[in-house]
Amino acid sequence: MCGIVAYIGYREASPIILNGLKRLEYRGYDSAGIALLTTEKDLKIYKKSGKVSELEEVIKGKNLEAKTGMGHTRWATHGEPNDINAHPHLSGSGEFAIIHNGIIENYASLKLALIKRGHEFKSETDTEVLIHLIEEVYKNNNVGFEEAVRMALTQVIGAYAIVILSKKDPDYLIGAKKGSPMVIGIGENEHFIASDASPFVEFTKNVVYLNDGEIAIIDGTKLTIKTIDNTIKTPYIQELEISLESIEKGGYEHFMLKEIFEQSRSILDSFRGRTHINDGTITMAGVDKFEDKLKNVKRIIIVGCGTSWHAGLVGEYLLEDFARIPVEVEYASEFRYRNPVLDENDFVIAISQSGETADTLAALELAKSKGATIFGICNVVGSSIPRFTDAGAYTHAGPEIGVASTKAFTAQVTALILMALSIAKKKGTISSQRLRELLIEMETLPAKVEKTLQSDKLIIEIANEFKDSKNALYLGRGYGFPVALEGALKLKEISYIHAEGYPAAEMKHGPIALIDAEMPVVVIATKHSYYEKVVSNIQEVRARKGRVIAIATEGDKEISNYADHVIYIPSCEESMLPLLATIPLQLLSYHIAVLRECNVDQPRNLAKSVTVE
Ligand code: AGP
Repeated sequence: MCGIVAYIGYREASPIILNGLKRLEYRGYDSAGIALLTTEKDLKIYKKSGKVSELEEVIKGKNLEAKTGMGHTRWATHGEPNDINAHPHLSGSGEFAIIHNGIIENYASLKLALIKRGHEFKSETDTEVLIHLIEEVYKNNNVGFEEAVRMALTQVIGAYAIVILSKKDPDYLIGAKKGSPMVIGIGENEHFIASDASPFVEFTKNVVYLNDGEIAIIDGTKLTIKTIDNTIKTPYIQELEISLESIEKGGYEHFMLKEIFEQSRSILDSFRGRTHINDGTITMAGVDKFEDKLKNVKRIIIVGCGTSWHAGLVGEYLLEDFARIPVEVEYASEFRYRNPVLDENDFVIAISQSGETADTLAALELAKSKGATIFGICNVVGSSIPRFTDAGAYTHAGPEIGVASTKAFTAQVTALILMALSIAKKKGTISSQRLRELLIEMETLPAKVEKTLQSDKLIIEIANEFKDSKNALYLGRGYGFPVALEGALKLKEISYIHAEGYPAAEMKHGPIALIDAEMPVVVIATKHSYYEKVVSNIQEVRARKGRVIAIATEGDKEISNYADHVIYIPSCEESMLPLLATIPLQLLSYHIAVLRECNVDQPRNLAKSVTVE
């Protein structure tokens, strides 16, 4: 959580930083702050609780001239979201300033020791402790700025991506990383540091992803990378793939709506170049690399959180259906603290849009330590999970800015379909003809997604009817069950309506008691293997006066006899159902949230990238 951005070069720093903070606001929006270092060694700090727009009000009319500076957008962990706890934080003398994304786990003991030595703190944050420590090391050891940062970090336990400025060294910018993301943009005679590349994408495409335990020292126009134990590293410069257009709203009112409507393209991008209908093959380099292992593996474990965990459930059905491999799907946060039985025979797949989720990363670290092969399905190129895994597959959904995950989910499912089919082919658990049929079906999906999106107007009407509901139930069976879970998560996270997803048949074991005339029940009732059973479940809801919104297959007239509202999707292969059926649920949540005047792209208390436990 938290977004950091910093600049050193020949341009005015403040517009780059403020613009960068707006692009990073998806990471947290409890407060925002900026520090500017002038060549006259003047360090100016402005910070404000709330969004970047509120910080902009504070700095209106101020002299912001500076070619070096940094900014922070916060998702509060230690200390409530107020002006004092907002970053940047200053050292005791005000010589040094810091911004930080992560958690200093031993901050309490460090703070106590510093207080005993006479330090006074203004905020409740763990970050302020770190900058006091750096200053103390600087003064007591008579070392330079860079050395003080390095030595202080050897005392720190926890996760951090930090940037530090020193009044005495206005030509320096120092960044350090452990456990939280940090990327350095290299321009001509200028450098950028940020949580992701979005703040500087229009200035440079050359980037270095800092590794854990590394420090970046920018001295004027020169970048040096060292480890905390002072070994110089050669920076590995990569070229960025994202463009400016991909991180802008492109005429849509919200990023979430843009991203929902992008799904025909993002699904296509996720399978383009990987499927070959003519010879009935699939190319997935990461899967091919472990062909022998996957042919004989006894089980696969999938780990993830939130929406990515829902994609994992779809993955379980797919891998069992096609590749006949038993699969366990685990919440990464639970898995990492259990004592799971794992060894070198296991194959563990982590699913993550951001590639930075702390629990998912920790689950992978555990699996790796037990000798398992670890595989990542991620969206953000160069993020921590893809860099940590033995192999993987990118989803190619493009940047997802809305906090509620939409196109990332359908891209994850697309990658899982390909993975399941590719393993099935290698194992011989699918016939060539069936594989070709499925690959042909896949080609039709972008057009079917477009068709599904045409229900938008009808969905707005339905949203108007249900916008004041207090609760909602989502039911589905088979591939429709993860869809129900995902639909319920979308509604609660952006509209703050309590919603639960259930396997449709489980309803009668408890949730049925909740059903009355006030309860909207969204049911995935497409013409697939479970159709009749789900129709019976709908009857049970109707008998208790529940109001049914059915997601049904085009041409199914019968369903309108049982449901209050029907949203049709094109007919499709059962295994590909989540790619279409999720879309109306995303739109329903979106429109309800807009009607309730909720902040759709930045729902309260949430952040896009959960880099803390
Ligand atoms: C989804 O809408 C959420 N905001 C959230 O559940 C998310 O899917 C989860 O935090 C996992 O993130 P990741 O995919 O980046 O690992």
